[in-house]
Amino acid sequence: MKIRSLLIAVSLILSVFSLRADEDTPLEKQMQIMARSMKQLSQQVGDSTKQQESITLLETLKKAASDSKGLAPRKTGSIPQADREKFLTDYKAQMDKLSEAFNQIEEAVKSGKYDQAKALLATIGPIKKEGHSKFKQD
Ligand code: HEM
Repeated sequence: MKIRSLLIAVSLILSVFSLRADEDTPLEKQMQIMARSMKQLSQQVGDSTKQQESITLLETLKKAASDSKGLAPRKTGSIPQADREKFLTDYKAQMDKLSEAFNQIEEAVKSGKYDQAKALLATIGPIKKEGHSKFKQD
């Protein structure tokens, strides 16, 4: 009987953990879209035979950045009330920087300037790094 109760308790605890693991924030979901699209784009951005596919990926990235701009990072809750507005304004500005970089890459791909597109793709890493260091919870 004791073992049965223990097993029930363990399975309850496990199910609570698995539920928590599924609880991505809406922003995390957008970030996952960005991570997947960026991985794909970095493999093919210089490939002229995949021009249309790359443009579609960039449209997906732009939508994810724009949707992310409308969402508040998890960290917002731990920012003192008085600083919260500035925190969110800065967050949105960083997201605009990301959208603008995606725009420039898209323009380069559309004009068949693949080397330029590759060089511009390298600017995304630092924008992401800065965004994560300022706005992502430790
Ligand atoms: C292409 C660029 C970027 C990629 C590929 C990317 C990718 C990711 C990934 C994989 C995560 C973790 C998601 C998870 O836990 O499931 C994440 C989280 C996060 N990212 Fe990004 N990111 C990018 C740019 C940015 C920028 C520019 C900002 C800020 C303006 C930002 C803010 C955040 C925040 C705040 C979180 C934590 C989520 C939350 O608070 O709910 N990211 N990102």
